[in-house]
Amino acid sequence: MSDWSDYRKKAIEHGPRVALAITLVVITFGVYVSVFGDRVGYDVDPASWLPGIPEGDPNMGSVGVHERWLPVDGKEEGNGLTLQIANNLASGSDWDYYFRTYVEEWDNGTPDAVTLIIRNTTYDSECSGVAMAMKVCNGNYGPTGWNGVNQVLLKDGYIVSSIAKMNDFYLEGTTEAEKKYTMCHELGHGLGLGHSDENFQNSDLGNCMDYTNNPENNLHPDDYNYMILEELYGNVSGSGQVAESRSGNRRMTDEEKRTMDEEIGAYASRLSDHIVASSKMTYRSRGFQSKSTVILLSKTETAEHHERVLGNGYSIRARMLLAK
Ligand SMILES: *[C@@H]1O[C@H](CO)[C@@H](O)[C@H](O)[C@H]1NC(C)=O
Ligand SMILES: *[C@@H]1O[C@H](CO)[C@@H](O)[C@H](O)[C@H]1NC(C)=O
Repeated sequence: MSDWSDYRKKAIEHGPRVALAITLVVITFGVYVSVFGDRVGYDVDPASWLPGIPEGDPNMGSVGVHERWLPVDGKEEGNGLTLQIANNLASGSDWDYYFRTYVEEWDNGTPDAVTLIIRNTTYDSECSGVAMAMKVCNGNYGPTGWNGVNQVLLKDGYIVSSIAKMNDFYLEGTTEAEKKYTMCHELGHGLGLGHSDENFQNSDLGNCMDYTNNPENNLHPDDYNYMILEELYGNVSGSGQVAESRSGNRRMTDEEKRTMDEEIGAYASRLSDHIVASSKMTYRSRGFQSKSTVILLSKTETAEHHERVLGNGYSIRARMLLAK
């Protein structure tokens, strides 16, 4: 027998076994991928690659970190905040009703530090930001990882635009309490408030800026929240006191004002960029992330706080309540 026919004989003997082995390897890999899913290939903890994660207790990351709206043109600080707030919710819906309820509560605290003026808008599915106003939206934003998000646009440390989004993808089938809590919470952020407490296991403080496993316990703003607002803005009867003033606000010319509104409007449009929780980021969005330099300021089991620097004194801060 020649070497060649010897080889052929062996191949015929072993061929099926080799094919079987290959089939088994392929099946095993298939089962592994279907069980472990998206972990294959990009099993990355976002905290290990997003810069800026606090090294100490990450639960303490943004408690008590408040931001403040830029005073309207030429207005002295310390006389309270007057803010336009655009209603971009399906009219006559539960969201619309909760919105009106909570705008009224935030508007009428004791001490009374804010005055909110509701503006009706034609529904904008993008929820794009508006200069010097807050916009509140609902919609099915898909599997983003968050129930609710509030994003503020900061210019030199002052808020110049804010949007709040309620994600019906997660909230549609949830309880009334869950929805109310989310609305109350995201409005609070839009006024500049950080969290009252970020441990959701401890006893509830009773205000909607406190993390909780039982939203029905934390359905309203409370005196503590109103007090912080007064520290930030003074009160409507003109206490004239604010924690620290940085604005050196003066009356602008019409020309300056127009230029500023245009500039803010351009940056505010970036608020509608698609946003996902870091825990939901996949390989693809990781590439996107590194291009847009997102910093994870803090992360807990229920919330994340991100910052994105846009340049020219502008940045976006996003606070998200994570879906369970
Ligand atoms: C505003 O602040 C002053 C001084 O602290 C206080 O006397 C007054 O009651 C406050 N007004 C309101 C409406 O909260
Ligand atoms: C906005 O719409 C509501 C009803 O959805 C209405 O009651 C209210 O008067 C409107 N406000 C303005 C300023 O048009």
